[in-house]
Amino acid sequence: MEKHHVEVLYDEKTVADRIREMGEQITKDYAGKDIHLVCVLKGGSFFMVELAKRIDLNVSIDFMSVSSYGGDTKSSGVVKIVKDLDDSIAGKHVLVVEDIIDSGRTLSYLLQMLKDRNPASLKLCTLLDKPSRRVVDVDVDYTGYEIPDTFVVGYGLDYDQVYRNLPYIGHVVFD
Ligand code: IMP
Ligand code: MG
Repeated sequence: MEKHHVEVLYDEKTVADRIREMGEQITKDYAGKDIHLVCVLKGGSFFMVELAKRIDLNVSIDFMSVSSYGGDTKSSGVVKIVKDLDDSIAGKHVLVVEDIIDSGRTLSYLLQMLKDRNPASLKLCTLLDKPSRRVVDVDVDYTGYEIPDTFVVGYGLDYDQVYRNLPYIGHVVFD
């Protein structure tokens, strides 16, 4: 890791409030339905757990892991399934929960793959979005925050596998 420090971008309470709002919106939008959250590991896990607690519906969860990044801050463009879902999503209202959308490569690949498994519906929820970095077009249904092109950590997001446990969203400043 290069020499750096982390500055707070969105503090713990701010993030908690935003996730509560997102949960309330999702609860309204899916009224009368059961919702199946698909978490993209590892980064999406912290967000998904908090979001799930703010959705007032029958919620089931599953996890999958795809990799598009090495130990660097730049996308390699390679997407591979490291761990697939445990359960079928056929006929379910699936909401994919991601930590961040950057180039969009990971999500566009993943969404196409999930669509082929015939869910009743398929939507995407992300805590953070960097629209200026988009290489592949992706429809995002729920976004916590749109951020500029800066490298962020915390709340599940890592820099070389560190900082996922920060209870706030920070950005990395290279000294
Ligand atoms: P995409 O395919 O370029 O959209 O890659 C998205 C993935 O890249 C995310 O799920 C993260 O794992 C990682 N990523 C992108 N930007 C950041 C960042 O600012 N901090 C930490 N991880 C990031
Ligand atoms: Mg991720």
